[in-house]
Amino acid sequence: MTAGTGADPDGAVLTRPVLDDGPDLWRLARDCGLDVNSPYAYTLWCRDFAGTSVIARDADGTPLGYVIGHLRPAEPATYFLWQVGVAERARGRRLARRMLDRIAERFADLGVTHLEATVTPDNAASRALFASFARDHGAEPVWTPLFEHRHFPAESGGHEPEDLVRIGPLRTAPDPS
Ligand SMILES: CC(C)(COP(=O)(O)OP(=O)(O)OC[C@H]1O[C@@H](n2cnc3c(N)ncnc32)[C@H](O)[C@@H]1OP(=O)(O)O)[C@@H](O)C(=O)NCCC(=O)NCCS
Repeated sequence: MTAGTGADPDGAVLTRPVLDDGPDLWRLARDCGLDVNSPYAYTLWCRDFAGTSVIARDADGTPLGYVIGHLRPAEPATYFLWQVGVAERARGRRLARRMLDRIAERFADLGVTHLEATVTPDNAASRALFASFARDHGAEPVWTPLFEHRHFPAESGGHEPEDLVRIGPLRTAPDPS
């Protein structure tokens, strides 16, 4: 972090989302090619799950990326990462990793020991992201099938299957070596 500005060395500013960020989360989901949930869902997320989410912006305020997630109600030591997206022009700068690490900084206080997410089988970038996070937090990613075609309504156009990745137990800080 650059002292005073709250910005990363490349100028990205990572913050907890507030209600006014809801529209930009929706736009980022759309522009990143993710499943686009309702505008209401993103704004609600900013109200109820801001503590386990992050939005990244350029120094001029342009949105660059986001992570939204929550602690699983039935298993609050598990953080479920629902969506991660980085604008195309900002990819390959470790922004997704920095956003994940920013949330993981809160894990010790929250009592979180594991991270989960689901990924479609062909999403190499996302798989690499979680492998990278697992490696630097001293854990192996374990992949298992979770959601299948039949779990999504065919009349919605269908949906690729989603594999669950579970990572943990997590070291609370990345290994500096
Ligand atoms: C997946 C995504 C968020 C990665 O964002 P990013 O900021 O470019 O990723 P990072 O630069 O932080 O890279 C993190 C790790 O993943 C690897 N990686 C990133 N993109 C990759 C790609 N296209 N192919 C292979 N590896 C990739 C990096 O090399 C790095 O690994 P390392 O630590 O071993 O070097 C971004 O590609 C994206 O928004 N994709 C579209 C939306 C999506 O699919 N989201 C995930 C599903 S919820």
